[in-house]
Amino acid sequence: MSRYLLNFVTAFFLLGASLFERVPVVRADNPISPGFPYGTEKVRGVSLGGWLILHPWITPSLFNDLNSSVVDEWTFCEFQDTSVARAALENHWDTFYSEEDFANIAKAGLNHIRIPLGYWAFDVQPGEPYIQGQLPYLERVIKWATKYGLKVMLVLYGAPGSQNGFINSGHILSVPEWPFNQTDIDRTLAIIQRLESMFANYPSVVPMIGALNEPAGFIPGVLDTARQYYRDAYTAIRFPFGSDKQSNTVMMIHDTFQPLSNWTDFMSPPDYQGVVMDTHLYHGFTQAELEQTEDEEIEEACAHAANITSLNLWTIVGEWCTAFTDCAPGLNGRGMGARYDGTYPNSTFVGSCDGLTGSAETFSDEYKTFMRRFWEAQTTAYETGIGWVQWLWKTEEGAGEEWSYSKGLQYGWIPWDQTDRLYPNVCG
Ligand SMILES: *[C@@H]1O[C@H](CO)[C@@H](O)[C@H](O)[C@H]1NC(C)=O
Ligand SMILES: *[C@@H]1O[C@H](CO)[C@@H](O)[C@H](O)[C@H]1NC(C)=O
Ligand SMILES: *[C@@H]1O[C@H](CO)[C@@H](O)[C@H](O)[C@H]1NC(C)=O
Ligand SMILES: *[C@@H]1O[C@H](CO)[C@@H](O)[C@H](O)[C@H]1NC(C)=O
Ligand SMILES: *[C@@H]1O[C@H](CO)[C@@H](O)[C@H](O)[C@H]1NC(C)=O
Repeated sequence: MSRYLLNFVTAFFLLGASLFERVPVVRADNPISPGFPYGTEKVRGVSLGGWLILHPWITPSLFNDLNSSVVDEWTFCEFQDTSVARAALENHWDTFYSEEDFANIAKAGLNHIRIPLGYWAFDVQPGEPYIQGQLPYLERVIKWATKYGLKVMLVLYGAPGSQNGFINSGHILSVPEWPFNQTDIDRTLAIIQRLESMFANYPSVVPMIGALNEPAGFIPGVLDTARQYYRDAYTAIRFPFGSDKQSNTVMMIHDTFQPLSNWTDFMSPPDYQGVVMDTHLYHGFTQAELEQTEDEEIEEACAHAANITSLNLWTIVGEWCTAFTDCAPGLNGRGMGARYDGTYPNSTFVGSCDGLTGSAETFSDEYKTFMRRFWEAQTTAYETGIGWVQWLWKTEEGAGEEWSYSKGLQYGWIPWDQTDRLYPNVCG
């Protein structure tokens, strides 16, 4: 607690200093022309989760032989011989995705891929164990995506110091450091500037950059820190050529887990152009959600539409899934149990996880039928905004396949043809 307060006070004094002070004025005669017709055509995408940022539940084989200190990418690099860790990472970056995946993503009628990135692909400082070498693999994947007509959203998931302490930031921490450390924030802005400079001239390849995924807005003060960061990142992403010429790169921000009503009028047109609000909608991480009946799940999914259309900003549901439990082994952290079956600390048994996770081959028809209805309800609701990106395209064979878009296609709970609806009136 005292460390937390200290950080908070430090952040307070540092807030004044910022890399980019002035937001250039958007000129009406020079409007943004994005590389995808956002707002006209719906975004339908999948994330390449667990690829450039490790998740033990997505690729358990990378972790099986490692001791229990290894829980995320940071400790994967910290608690192994560097050359061993590097070889494992290089092999994973090289093989987890192949060109065939991109052919299938396109064949499934999807138009976007979302790639989570960690800052360490660009900048590693002394004391940080992270291993570099991701960029050639990223470049290869972007080429494959482009070959199959897929747009790439590059999203910064891991900031120096971690913006949320979650595993998807690369580093599990009880108190994230990024929100309270201006050096970390400035390093992050420099990375966003670099990312934009790599793709500013290729908006049809990378039409959108996510400035920072899931800052911990539930911690006092962090919402305001994130807002200031997003204003600064706007200058980096939208004005890479100087203050009198806009780029065509759309910038994505995240709601920091706060109700969208906290973002009313934030970075909205006409003063700001090309800003997308990202919200993440999961249904399996709280006791109340886990206890819902199937019909209640569907009802809640459909009800999201009202919030998604409440902002004067393009709104996307950039993470969601058809899984409605937290049963996938390690989903809540390596070695942690599930709330659903009461094996997670302080949780209350709702049901057995048997048959709800693992290989899709073992899923009952009833389970798959519900996931199909849930998928149709969610995509219907989320397309009231500019569209959606589902988490995620694939897991390692046999791991948490209820999360896998590609397994959904194979086993029929997701249609190959996006318009092939079994429940066209699912949301009334
Ligand atoms: C795991 O291995 C690392 C490296 O040998 C060691 O530093 C760490 O203490 C080990 N953790 C456990 C829980 O044994
Ligand atoms: C802030 O983060 C930097 C690394 O980006 C680190 O060197 C520095 O010690 C941190 N400052 C504080 C006050 O924690
Ligand atoms: C979000 O808005 C509500 C009021 O609508 C307010 O009570 C709450 O404090 C806001 N959250 C933050 C983090 O400021
Ligand atoms: C919509 O947002 C409000 C808060 O602004 C929240 O109370 C409500 O639960 C949200 N609706 C859904 C379906 O998430
Ligand atoms: C479980 O509850 C105890 C007592 O309230 C608390 O100290 C602990 O942090 C909780 N554990 C988790 C994982 O939530």
